[in-house]
Amino acid sequence: MEREGFTDVVGPCSAQLDLRERRAVLDWFASTRPDVVVLAAARVGGIKANAARPTEFLSDNLRIQVNVLDAALEHGVERLLFLGSSCVYPKFADQPIREEALLTGALEPTNDAYAIAKIAGLLHVQAVRRQHGLPWISAMPTNLYGPGDNFHPEHSHVLASLIRRFHEARTAGARRVVNWGTGTPRREFLHVDDLARACLYLLEHYDADGSVNVGTGTDLTIREAAELVAEVVGYQGAVEWDAAQPDGTPRKVLDISRITTLGWAPRIGLREGIAEAYAWYVEHRASAAL
Ligand SMILES: NC(=O)c1ccc[n+]([C@@H]2O[C@H](COP(=O)([O-])OP(=O)(O)OC[C@H]3O[C@@H](n4cnc5c(N)ncnc54)[C@H](OP(=O)(O)O)[C@@H]3O)[C@@H](O)[C@H]2O)c1
Repeated sequence: MEREGFTDVVGPCSAQLDLRERRAVLDWFASTRPDVVVLAAARVGGIKANAARPTEFLSDNLRIQVNVLDAALEHGVERLLFLGSSCVYPKFADQPIREEALLTGALEPTNDAYAIAKIAGLLHVQAVRRQHGLPWISAMPTNLYGPGDNFHPEHSHVLASLIRRFHEARTAGARRVVNWGTGTPRREFLHVDDLARACLYLLEHYDADGSVNVGTGTDLTIREAAELVAEVVGYQGAVEWDAAQPDGTPRKVLDISRITTLGWAPRIGLREGIAEAYAWYVEHRASAAL
């Protein structure tokens, strides 16, 4: 946002402002009085973290959303963008997934608590639009990756965890790497800077009830993604798949015609983006003990 010329951009980290604390959130809005809010904060994680801690995924996300959206309403925030997620669409939604698929079928059970919380957030934004006439909107990003990603061994998403695993295998001279699942599910990946540009674009060009998918509209298998990461990282050992572990949704790719019709398109190719994410990981691994 600063690169695009915005000034006075604030984004307190959770240590400064725990968004689960209602009083603290209301006080922060009263003293900061933001004109525009992008609600990206959430408890986020991969299959393992979602399966292990559904209570926190539900409770933390509901509290973060209710507190921020209530405070934004109370303080008359003019424009608000809430980030949903492509995980909230039904498990067997027709592919590519259109925005209309929301709430048309059963959820993927491995992340249903997170999905239900996010769906509540989407409906909360719609309710405020209808009842209070405020031009608040929601976006539905696909799987994200890029510099600054979460590389935690248990809480990271697929590309970040592959980057870490292959890097550690290469530096340790390991001859085999075992990945979770069969490698056959198909996924779409969007660079975080493309999402950031899409958020700004939507804030500038979109004002309607329905949420907007943000992705690349193209997918590949997890196995192909793993091969690409191994290549970028320079890992040359064997890659095996532990089919006893859950795969999650079989295919997930977004129909991005709503946002492309508005005039936005992704710019960063997957190989280029993975190389950038890997460079960030290597640089920060040492300093941040990632
Ligand atoms: N990653 C994806 O593939 C993906 C896909 C679709 C949608 N999304 C959405 O995109 C958003 C960002 O996801 P991400 O992957 O970037 O997650 P992330 O790396 O885990 O970052 C989550 C952010 O939320 C903040 N946060 C969490 N709990 C908080 C709390 N109690 N109080 C204040 N801040 C809190 C964290 O702040 P601190 O770092 O200061 O703790 C962090 O900045 C989320 O809304 C997520 O649902 C992500």
